[in-house]
Amino acid sequence: MVCDKNPENVRNLFNEIAQYYDKTNNFISVFSHYIIKYFALRELNIKPRSLILDVCCGTGDFTRLIAKVSPRSRVIGVDFCENMLKIAKNKNPKGVFVLADCLELPFKEREFNYVTAGFGLRNIKDRAKAVSEIYRVLDFDGQFLHLDFGIRNSFSKVFDRLVPVVAKCLKINLEHYKYLINSKQEFPEPDELIKEFETHGFKLVKRVDYLFGVISAQIMQK
Ligand SMILES: C[S@@+](CC[C@H](N)C(=O)[O-])C[C@H]1O[C@@H](n2cnc3c(N)ncnc32)[C@H](O)[C@@H]1O
Repeated sequence: MVCDKNPENVRNLFNEIAQYYDKTNNFISVFSHYIIKYFALRELNIKPRSLILDVCCGTGDFTRLIAKVSPRSRVIGVDFCENMLKIAKNKNPKGVFVLADCLELPFKEREFNYVTAGFGLRNIKDRAKAVSEIYRVLDFDGQFLHLDFGIRNSFSKVFDRLVPVVAKCLKINLEHYKYLINSKQEFPEPDELIKEFETHGFKLVKRVDYLFGVISAQIMQK
């Protein structure tokens, strides 16, 4: 099935689901998504006083965790969905958030030491443009952490079956969660994704898999 990644529709979808985005993530993953985000960020070994950009920051989980993992660094969250950012701001009153499209990041070349993207690139039609923007704003030797669904194995199929059940329990519009399943199935698996990042000039530092590979993190060096 082809997933509709028209940016306007993606923005509308996240505006609609913003209010129950965190609740659903917690429910489906039994809070493990938060723990995985934390461990993936730890893999970055962020140097103190770094400047970090979190693209597709959504409700600001990474932003909050970066403050814990590297308290002396500064982080800016970027997302093009107002309702997701409102929640991010409530959760991170001191956080800096910018309403912007990842395809045209409002930052200069080489401004950031690290860029993070959690479960975001999968929703972007022109992924190549988004990755080239990430590359552009990263400093020489800067690092990019990408985290999303990984290998499509039997564990991942269990997840796909669980989502509609959870959506029904939480009285969530099933169409919204069909999008999640479809976007997940269309997204390249980690090996393919790493090759894609390499075509932009990135070099692989490490790949770390979680939950038997259902979730995967790739750390790429500029
Ligand atoms: C699945 S959420 C991930 C949120 C968060 N990073 C997390 O890990 O929970 C994807 C986010 O990407 C944002 N997004 C999708 N396309 C975007 C674009 N072109 N520019 C900026 N944000 C975008 C959506 O608004 C949404 O908040």
